[in-house]
Amino acid sequence: MPGMTAAPPASPITAELLGRRDDNLARLKEWLRIPSVSAQSDHAGDCRTAADWVAGQMRDAGLTVEIVETAGHPIVYGEALVDPAKPTVLLYGHYDVQPPEPLDLWTTPAFEPTEREGALYARGATDDKGQVLTHVLAAQAWHAAGGLPVNVKMVIEGEEEVGSNNLEPFLREHADRLACDVAVISDTSQFARGTPAITYGLRGILACEVQLTGPRRDLHSGVFGGSVANPANVIARLVASLHDDDGRVAIEGFYDDVEALSDDERERLAALPFDEAAYYRAIGLEEGFGESGYSANEQRWARPTCDVNGMLSGYTGEGPKTIVPSKAMAKITCRLVPGQRWDILTDAIERHLRERLPPGITMEFRRDHGANAIVFATDSPYMAAARAAIAAGFGTEPVFIREGGSIPVVATLEDVLGVETLLLGWGQNTDNLHAPDEHFSIDDFHNGTAAAAALLGELAGESDASAAGRPGGDS
Ligand code: BES
Ligand code: ZN
Repeated sequence: MPGMTAAPPASPITAELLGRRDDNLARLKEWLRIPSVSAQSDHAGDCRTAADWVAGQMRDAGLTVEIVETAGHPIVYGEALVDPAKPTVLLYGHYDVQPPEPLDLWTTPAFEPTEREGALYARGATDDKGQVLTHVLAAQAWHAAGGLPVNVKMVIEGEEEVGSNNLEPFLREHADRLACDVAVISDTSQFARGTPAITYGLRGILACEVQLTGPRRDLHSGVFGGSVANPANVIARLVASLHDDDGRVAIEGFYDDVEALSDDERERLAALPFDEAAYYRAIGLEEGFGESGYSANEQRWARPTCDVNGMLSGYTGEGPKTIVPSKAMAKITCRLVPGQRWDILTDAIERHLRERLPPGITMEFRRDHGANAIVFATDSPYMAAARAAIAAGFGTEPVFIREGGSIPVVATLEDVLGVETLLLGWGQNTDNLHAPDEHFSIDDFHNGTAAAAALLGELAGESDASAAGRPGGDS
C-alpha cells in the first residue's frame, strides 16, 4: 500500500536476545545469590566468588579473562580484540555491593533474589550487578550470533562501594593495555520511569572519619563533668561548625574553585520534566532544604555538599546513664563539583576541625577515599551512538541529565586514558539502591541488554544492528 513501510527485519541480535530472556534473568539471579559485600571483611571470599562468576560470563562472550589480584578485592579483566580497524570500547562495572543492613527491613532476604510485580529484589539487583551484566549478556549475544562488532575490554572491580582505592594503580599500570576509544558504564539511573537518560556529569566525593578522644575512659558525669571537655559535646560542635545558618558549607575555601552553572545549562536542566513537590513527597518530605537560588536538581547535581553519614558516642542503650564518654566519632563525606579538588579539600576539612579542638581532646583524622567530579560535552559522536542505542533498546529518546552520586573511576579514566565515559543507567533512583528492598525492573534489565547490544552495533558503525528491538517491553 502506498505510504506504508515494511517493518524492519529483526536483526540477528534481536532474535538472539529474545531467545535468551529467561536464561539471562536466571544468570543474574545466580550472581545476586553471592553476597559480595566489599565493606565487610567476612565477605572477602564471596567477593572472590562473585569475581570468578562474572569471569565465566565474560568467557562465554568470547573474552580472554584474567583475575587480577590487588591489595583488596580482585579486579576481573577481559578483552576480545576482534579487528584493529574497529573501535575499542572499555566497559567498567562493579561486582561488589553495599551491606544489606538493616536486614529486618527487607521483605525477602537480600541475597535470595525474588521476583515481585515485574521487578527482581536483591542487594545488587540494580547497583550494579543487574546493570553491568546487561553488557556482558549483550556481548554474549553478539558472540553467539557471529562475533563482536567492535573490540571489547571489560574491567569489573570489587571495591567501588568502598571508594575504588586499588583501581587507580591498576589502571595506571596497565594504561597501554587498556587503551580504548570510549568507556561505557551502566551504574547510574534513568531520569524517570519511561524516560531513559544519558548522564553527562557526576559529582566527586571525599570521605573521611574523625575520632575524638578525651579522658582515657568513660567518667562519672557528676564527679568529673564540668572539669573536662566532653567528646560527645565536642563532636556536635565540630559537626555544627561545618555549615553556616543558611546551610552553606563553612569550610574555608570550599567554594573558591566551584565552577558556576552556565545560563544555558540551567535552562536545559529546568526544561526537564520534573515535579519538585512530587520528588519531595516520594521521599516522605513536605519540603526540601538547601542552598537558596538553586532548583533541587541543581542542588543535588551541580552544587557541593558536606554531610555527616554517621556519628557515635557515649551510651545509646535503654534508660539513662550519667557519663562523660571517652570517645566520639563521625563519618563525613563531601560531594564535589567541577573545579573542586578532593585532596585539597580533605586537607581543608582536617584543618577546619583541628583549629576548633578544645584543650583535652585529641583527634585522629582518617582519609578514606576521594574522587573528582566530571562533566562531559553532550555533542560527541559517542553520545550520538548512545542516544541511538537507547532509543533502540527502550523505544524512547533519552534526556541528558547530571547525577549527584559518584563513580570514582570516571575521572581516573579521563585522566589516565584520556577518554570520555558514556554513563548509561538502566535503573531507577527509586530502585532502593543502598537501601532495603533494592530491586531492578525486569523490563529495564531486558531493555538495557537490548540497548547495550545496540550500542556495540552503533559504535561499529552498523546502525542496522541497533534495530535490536525491545525484548523487555515498555518500562
Ligand atoms: N551506582 C552508584 C552511583 C550512582 C547511583 C550514581 C545513582 C548516580 C545515580 C555507585 O555504586 C555508588 O553508590 N557510588 C558511591 C561511590 C563512593 C562510595 C566512592 C557513592 O556515590 O556514594
Ligand atoms: Zn554502583
